[in-house]
Amino acid sequence: MRRLLPLLAAVVVSTAAAAWRWAPLARDWVDEDQCVGCHRQRDARLVDQWLQSPHMPAGVGCADCHGDDHEAIFARGGRVSAKVCGDCHAAATESFARSGHARAEEAARQNGRFQAAPAAIQRVGCLSCHAIGRLDPDGGRGRCADCHSAHRFSVEEARRPEACEGCHMGPDHPQAEAWRASKHGVVFAQAQDPGVAPTCVTCHLAGDHDTSGGLTLGTTGNGRVLAGTPAGIPMEAADRDTLDAGRARMLAVCGECHSAGFARRQLADADEVKRIADGLVAEAAQILRELHAEGLLAPMPADRPPNPAAGHALVLGGHQLYSDTSAIEQRFFEMSHFRHAIAFKGAYHFSPDHAHWLGYAALQADLTFIRDEARRLRAAR
Ligand code: HEC
Ligand code: HEC
Ligand code: HEC
Ligand code: HEC
Ligand code: HEC
Ligand code: HEC
Ligand code: HEC
Ligand code: HEC
Repeated sequence: MRRLLPLLAAVVVSTAAAAWRWAPLARDWVDEDQCVGCHRQRDARLVDQWLQSPHMPAGVGCADCHGDDHEAIFARGGRVSAKVCGDCHAAATESFARSGHARAEEAARQNGRFQAAPAAIQRVGCLSCHAIGRLDPDGGRGRCADCHSAHRFSVEEARRPEACEGCHMGPDHPQAEAWRASKHGVVFAQAQDPGVAPTCVTCHLAGDHDTSGGLTLGTTGNGRVLAGTPAGIPMEAADRDTLDAGRARMLAVCGECHSAGFARRQLADADEVKRIADGLVAEAAQILRELHAEGLLAPMPADRPPNPAAGHALVLGGHQLYSDTSAIEQRFFEMSHFRHAIAFKGAYHFSPDHAHWLGYAALQADLTFIRDEARRLRAAR
């Protein structure tokens, strides 16, 4: 930063004067040998974005983030570790490190489906979302530019729901679609004001980067259960105090616009939808365990290529594959991974369509198919 300070006066004058122009700038900013000088001829729009960012007037230049050794920059593929941002933004980086986002790359890499996928699918089909928790060689965790895109690094951009929606969508985590369909999304689409109707950031990221704080049963993947509750499907368990603290934090957000009683009733209903959805999936899982014990899955897990995370065991949770499987297990995958998620994530985001037709009704159809297929397999034995 120090390197750039002598140039700052000239830049401030030039921006204040009128539309930005190169002419009044100190000579070495535009010098071919300097980052900006050379790069504005190669990637002019990229340099424009930096010029309009909060960093340029603060004197934070290319080398402050990328370093000044071009060989090292190439070796890193142009990547900037969250640790570099953390040198100047300690609070944001520390609260981000507590969030589930910081564990996202790790979670994908440990997953059986990740390990079974071709390398290009791992990169394009998993890590393009999960690199929000990128692990860099210097120990940095996170790709901050996933919400504050490079090189604008805008807080306004990150506050928009679109900043979240590219990842939080689709059949296993339809938060974007559910929120858009909810009364909140509808009112926001018209008012364009988070003071009128809440967006993702209102409920999950206001003030600090720890997105995990207000969650109780509706956490990532299949969600959670209260410790001691029989689950029947693999789910994280949490004690009553953890759940109460998360709920209190979320209710404080609702309290900005709703009565306490209204908000509590809405969330209690969503908890109940979660428990109903859990119960339907657990019933299907039990049918699959029995068929496995009777040797009726075709092919049996013992006769397939091993699951990279679970070997030849019957897998009915996070590591379940969709290749080398049987029709009934494939249907269970769609049930537990898609419809279960749609029902409870839809309920927590107040979309009646997701909670009911795309969620609950589809779960019932899955269970009917699975019961029927089990009867068929037993009859054909
Ligand atoms: C003389 C011209 C020149 C100068 C000076 C220069 N660069 Fe570059 N830079 C390049 C070229 C050429 C590329 C490769 C572009 C491409 O792949 O199309 C590049 C690529 C990069 C990349 C992307 C690397 C990647 O693998 O994606 C970064 C980041 C970068 N430069 C930063 C800097 C920084 C920081 C400075 C100042 C310390 C700087 N550059 C100075 C010409 C220059
Ligand atoms: C505040 C930090 C910061 C500053 C300042 C900054 N960059 Fe970057 N730059 C990044 C980040 C973050 C990325 C995304 C790479 C990643 O995945 O980590 C990036 C990526 C790049 C890339 C490769 C990706 C692409 O889109 O081609 C180039 C080239 C680049 N920067 C050049 C520059 C130049 C030139 C400047 C100065 C005008 C500059 N950067 C200033 C943080 C910064
Ligand atoms: C050398 C110090 C430095 C580095 C490195 C740095 N920044 Fe900054 N950043 C600043 C300063 C100074 C400001 C402007 C003052 C402020 O708003 O905090 C700023 C502003 C910002 C803002 C806008 C804050 C606001 O309230 O409007 C964001 C977002 C941001 N930086 C993100 C990043 C990210 C992401 C990285 C890493 C890719 C990064 N910064 C790297 C110093 C730095
Ligand atoms: C680049 C993709 C990506 C973007 C953009 C993104 N997320 Fe996430 N998010 C993830 C992934 C992946 C996880 C799962 C992390 C895990 O547990 O492994 C996650 C988890 C979460 C969770 C669950 C709680 C937690 O911390 O684990 C919340 C809440 C969340 N994100 C909110 C948001 C909000 C709000 C935004 C926008 C401001 C956003 N996300 C933007 C990928 C993304
Ligand atoms: C999931 C999306 C997301 C990611 C990833 C993200 N941010 Fe943010 N960031 C936001 C949002 C949203 C705000 C505005 C929060 C608010 O309105 O209170 C923000 C605010 C900021 C601010 C200004 C307010 C403050 O807390 O100082 C800085 C600086 C910042 N982020 C830096 C970073 C850095 C550094 C990283 C990487 C470690 C990062 N952000 C990663 C969404 C994100
Ligand atoms: C009105 C508040 C509110 C808004 C707006 C909101 N959420 Fe949520 N979100 C919740 C609640 C409530 C839960 C479940 C909390 C619990 O576990 O008790 C939740 C849970 C989550 C989870 C964990 C998995 C799940 O769905 O249960 C993610 C990820 C998430 N939200 C992302 C988002 C994204 C992305 C957006 C914007 C498209 C968004 N949320 C908008 C309130 C909100
Ligand atoms: C479109 C973006 C996207 C893609 C592509 C994606 N994920 Fe995710 N993944 C997410 C989000 C967002 C969450 C958080 C879901 C939630 O909380 O509702 C998540 C959650 C997870 C979880 C649960 C994390 C936990 O801590 O419980 C695992 C495991 C996972 N993903 C693995 C993968 C694997 C493996 C791939 C590729 C085969 C993949 N994901 C592809 C966005 C994505
Ligand atoms: C920024 C303000 C704001 C916040 C925060 C907020 N809401 Fe809302 N909510 C609204 C508005 C506005 C409406 C539409 C009001 C109406 O039509 O009566 C609404 C409607 C709803 C509805 C639909 C009611 C219906 O009858 O269709 C539910 C359910 C709801 N909110 C639950 C919640 C919960 C639970 C929280 C906290 C997790 C929350 N809201 C946070 C503004 C907010």
